[in-house]
Amino acid sequence: MSLVGFKASNHPQQVTIKGADDEIDDRGTPQDFWDELNAKYRFTLDVAAAPHNAKTPDYYTRLADGLLQPWTGSVWCNPPYSGLDRWLEKAWREWDERPDLRTIVMLLPANRPEQPWWQTWVEPYRDRPEYDLSVRFLPGRLRFIKPGATEVKPNERPPFGCCLLVWSR
Ligand SMILES: C[S@@+](CC[C@H](N)C(=O)[O-])C[C@H]1O[C@@H](n2cnc3c(N)ncnc32)[C@H](O)[C@@H]1O
Repeated sequence: MSLVGFKASNHPQQVTIKGADDEIDDRGTPQDFWDELNAKYRFTLDVAAAPHNAKTPDYYTRLADGLLQPWTGSVWCNPPYSGLDRWLEKAWREWDERPDLRTIVMLLPANRPEQPWWQTWVEPYRDRPEYDLSVRFLPGRLRFIKPGATEVKPNERPPFGCCLLVWSR
C-alpha cells in the first residue's frame, strides 16, 4: 500500500508474474475531462473499452481486441496499463499505415519514462518537428472511475500524474 492508500497494480513486473487483472485495467476516464478533449478532437472511436465505459458509440472491447482492429477517424485510447508497449506499437503502426486516421489521443501514466515502452515508443519521437507526436503533461491527478462506481473516494486517486500523447497530421 502506498502512503495515499493506492495499491500499485498491473505494473509490468506484476503482470509477468500473475497476468493482467481486467478489474484493475478497467478504470474509466473522468467524463468532464474527456468532454473537454472531445470538444477539440471530436473522437469517433474508442479503441480500449467495455460496454459500461465506452466513450464513443463505436468502440472496441477486450473481446474484439482493439489491438487487432483498424483504427480510423479520430481515436481515443485510455489503454489497459498492463500492456502499454503493445498499445504504443499498434498506435504507431496504424498511424504510419492509415492516412485516413486523423488523430490519436492516448492517456498514459506520466511517472514511468524510464520503462522500455516509453523509451522505445515515445522518447525518441516526442515533440520533434520531423514526427507527428506531441506529449502534454497534465496538471494534478485524474480521478479514474471503477466499474459500477459514480465517484472516487479521497484515497483512491492514483499517486501519479498522467500525460496525453497526441498524434496529429
Ligand atoms: C483504462 S480502461 C478505459 C475505459 C474507457 N475507454 C475510458 O476511457 O473511460 C481500458 C479498457 O480497455 C479494455 N480492454 C482491455 N484489453 C482490451 C483490448 N485488447 N481491446 C480493447 N479493449 C480492451 C478494458 O476492459 C477496459 O475497459
